[in-house]
Amino acid sequence: MSAPQTTTVAEDNSAPPWTKLKSSDLPWYTDDVEGQLSPSIRAQFETYSAIPADDVIPHIRRVRATLWNIRAYPCTGLFVFLTPFVASHSALPRIVSYVQTVPDGKVLDVGCYIGHDLRALQFAGVPQGALHGLDVLPFWEQGWELFNDREKFDLSGRVVVGDVLDFSAGSEASRLLDGRMDVVWSSAVLHQFAWDKQVVACKRLLRYTKGRGSFVFGCLAGSCKAAGDIEMERMTGGGVKRAEEPFKHDKESFERLWGVVGEEVGMGLEVEVRWTEWGDWGCEVERARFMGEDMGVLEFTVRIV
Ligand SMILES: C[S@@+](CC[C@H](N)C(=O)[O-])C[C@H]1O[C@@H](n2cnc3c(N)ncnc32)[C@H](O)[C@@H]1O
Repeated sequence: MSAPQTTTVAEDNSAPPWTKLKSSDLPWYTDDVEGQLSPSIRAQFETYSAIPADDVIPHIRRVRATLWNIRAYPCTGLFVFLTPFVASHSALPRIVSYVQTVPDGKVLDVGCYIGHDLRALQFAGVPQGALHGLDVLPFWEQGWELFNDREKFDLSGRVVVGDVLDFSAGSEASRLLDGRMDVVWSSAVLHQFAWDKQVVACKRLLRYTKGRGSFVFGCLAGSCKAAGDIEMERMTGGGVKRAEEPFKHDKESFERLWGVVGEEVGMGLEVEVRWTEWGDWGCEVERARFMGEDMGVLEFTVRIV
């Protein structure tokens, strides 16, 4: 694989409009780091990242300010990026042993953001050289700053700016990633799209894989009660106007979505979906309340058979 440009910014017309609001009045903004900083993640900043103990919180706040200025994602405003979701996914042990067993195993994180899940995958036993990332913006630069590990967490040639809705064969992402991945991980990305775009994105996730035997796994915000639209106009206090609302899944609708995807691409898919609570992922529950009492995390594991 030749080295992709790691700093090119793709034309970014897929960023959801609410990520451009950047206001501290948003319900997904807080200055409280401590509530989301577990003792083990703090220890990781002090040891792996060699940040002096009394600078851990200011350091995290500084990098978060940069991230918020780029895109006002809820995971940024709430410091949820401190908690790598992949570490709590129930399929992780099975996935790690699959990657370790398959010859030259490769893993791709789609919407990899600062690469916190990529690092967690390494800590869980995936070789660093197996790790790949894709994002519409090169947030991995801020990841090196946050984790202070540019020298020891080398992603050169394996991170690429790209769009999960883009199928064009000539794109850097297509050339470097298509048909090459044993495992594709994607967390907190699918829930930003309306149903039709979710179908496109799931097909795209499958396109990165080697096909039969490979896995796509991840998570997204979802409801334990009912599927429907996520009302972004209400949630942003009118900050964004009602347009193409993201589709909020429950377990049943998300299984149905993968059923549609499998049929349209002509692939056999074994799909497992579980509804879980925010707390199951190390998230401070009150932080996520703004989405609604019914909301939690839908965990999914898809095996191509
Ligand atoms: C809410 S953040 C989630 C980050 C991380 N995966 C996590 O679970 O914490 C969404 C990420 O997806 C990226 N993203 C948004 N739209 C995308 C697209 N169309 N294609 C690829 N990445 C996208 C954003 O830039 C951002 O890094």
